Amino acid sequence: MNLTELSFKEVKDLTEKYIIDTYNRYPIGFRYGVGETLFDLNDKPYIDFQCGISVTNLGHGEADIIETLRNQADKLFHTSNLYYSEQQAKLAETIINHSFPGKVFFCNSGTEANEAAFKLMRKHAHQSSINDPVILALKGSFHGRTTSSMSMTGQKSIREGFGDLVPGVHFVTENDEDSLVDAFEQYGDRIAGIIMEPILGEGGIHPLSVSFVETARKLTHETGALLIFDEIQTGMGRTGKMFCFEHFGFAPDAFTLAKALGSGFPIGALIVSDEHSTILGRGDHGSTFGGNHLACAIAYETFRVIQSRDILTNVETTAEYCIQRLQSIGQKNKLIKDIRGRGLHIGVELTIPSRQVAEKCLINGLVINATANTVLRIMPPINITQEKMEEGLDILEKTLEEFK
Ligand SMILES: Cc1ncc(COP(=O)(O)O)c(C=O)c1O
Repeated sequence: MNLTELSFKEVKDLTEKYIIDTYNRYPIGFRYGVGETLFDLNDKPYIDFQCGISVTNLGHGEADIIETLRNQADKLFHTSNLYYSEQQAKLAETIINHSFPGKVFFCNSGTEANEAAFKLMRKHAHQSSINDPVILALKGSFHGRTTSSMSMTGQKSIREGFGDLVPGVHFVTENDEDSLVDAFEQYGDRIAGIIMEPILGEGGIHPLSVSFVETARKLTHETGALLIFDEIQTGMGRTGKMFCFEHFGFAPDAFTLAKALGSGFPIGALIVSDEHSTILGRGDHGSTFGGNHLACAIAYETFRVIQSRDILTNVETTAEYCIQRLQSIGQKNKLIKDIRGRGLHIGVELTIPSRQVAEKCLINGLVINATANTVLRIMPPINITQEKMEEGLDILEKTLEEFK
């Protein structure tokens, strides 16, 4: 069966018949993409302000990524972690060169990267003879859908319906330093680590304040707990730096990556500083697919492309334009309540449910994400041109007008 010959209705019918209904899908499917533009099954074009939820950061059909994929596919897809891998070794060196001295564990997704982070914190506690460790996480956080990632996810809607999750996770309020200090007073040396997204993404694009993160760094240094950043959504240039923690001027003990690391090819990673890089040792963790030849070759090329072009500067300039434009739209249209974010990771809080606006945007030719009930999330390719950014914002402005 050639899927490209199916109509949208046929695709929808097959999906409803054969795929477990875990997703609230928009009534559309895409066939191909070129740069910042996606084309649906009827060849209608859309500006992509979503990047597959911060994944295709370099847009669609990026020639160097495709060439790398083809070359590596010609040679070797997969051999397993029973053997050494040139692609893995080169990618690990690149990630470390862009972050801090340390080591990398490879897996296939964001939730798996956080699963590895969870095990790192638990093993760290075990090695320090802490029998009842506590892991701190943030109330509005999202870290994934496996049981331990879910256990570290504060959002109730994600946790509900599965009974007791992994015990020992305590939630503190984001950007509330008192809540953080209270937790350290309450649990002290029992705290194995704290995990946080530098910008809470699924929670509605809430950037953490520098002082909150600094307090977390200070307290974790004092107690020996691990400070871990989940950079799954903010990493790979999205905020104007390769990794968002660079804005803070200090490093965490570990961080997790996935999404844009593989430009759309599944890969995840846990990066651990040298000091803590032996906590997980032989046999402590593993993955059949983790860091396979194809994924690592593409991720390595993703770094090379971001680095070799002026992409991080482009994030700054297009983000500045985007914020100014949103502010001017907001002056005319009172549906906009707040605009926040960093780089091209921008949230627009509305006074009405954002899903209905995102649905109308699709009709008008813009793919945009709705999150946290009332927030529109703007995450275009980080190499988007000014022209396409303008085009997308024109559509958004026009669509918001329709709701006035
Ligand atoms: C911050 C963050 N962490 C973890 C995840 C989970 O990643 P994945 O869906 O690849 O398992 C996501 C996904 O949206 C995320 O935004």
